Amino acid sequence: MNVPNHVAIIMDGNGRWAASKGMPRNYGHAKGSNTVELITQAASDLGIKYLTIYAFSTENWSRPADEVDALMKLMREYIKRCIRKAAKNNMKVRIIGNTSKLAPDIQELIAELETSSAGYTGLNFQIAINYGSRDEMIRAVRRIAEKSADGLLKPEEIDEELFASYLDTKEIPDPDLMIRTSGEQRLSNYLLWQMAYTELYFTDVPWPAFTKEELVKAIEVYNGRNRRFGNI
Ligand code: FPP
Repeated sequence: MNVPNHVAIIMDGNGRWAASKGMPRNYGHAKGSNTVELITQAASDLGIKYLTIYAFSTENWSRPADEVDALMKLMREYIKRCIRKAAKNNMKVRIIGNTSKLAPDIQELIAELETSSAGYTGLNFQIAINYGSRDEMIRAVRRIAEKSADGLLKPEEIDEELFASYLDTKEIPDPDLMIRTSGEQRLSNYLLWQMAYTELYFTDVPWPAFTKEELVKAIEVYNGRNRRFGNI
């Protein structure tokens, strides 16, 4: 099997999965966080080099406060576990998104996770937290404009490569395959610049029920596609 270099995932359906079992939404998020561990392991075993997951979007703040709190609590617990997992599995972890808006203790945990795993050479694992593609691009444009206003950058020096180097995903290759679980077929402000030529795969399976077998199925479909990088 020819595995894609970079797989990006929108982990959708935690709430609906929990409701189908007569359980509260936060139960679905907790199960979803277990699936993250399962899928990082599977990605690593399959030889995928880059995996990026959408854990919390810039729009997710508008959910009820108790759900946001529960997601942040899960994030804390997950990052702590991830520090150990990264060391065990040689995994380099980076957070994308506007982390300056997160609680100070979460920012500290993120710094510890990124610093401690920076030298690992296995799976490159990106977690999008308080991430939105439009927000990412606006933050990039502001920094570019500041540099230009300071006379350090000429407008004609701005090209695709330079712009990409100002994104949170700098140094990370564009995704080859994007998987969205639970039936919805949209991008929801996820990696819009980076996914210009990415193959899209949608499955009805909700995230808490997603497995290595489902990941393999997505890769098999990807392998059957005729990829193009321009002219349609
Ligand atoms: C969508 O389910 C999922 C999210 C809001 C974010 C994903 C979060 C997790 C998998 C758990 C925490 C992650 C980590 C890394 C600790 P939904 O609530 O939108 O489901 P619904 O569409 O069925 O309501």
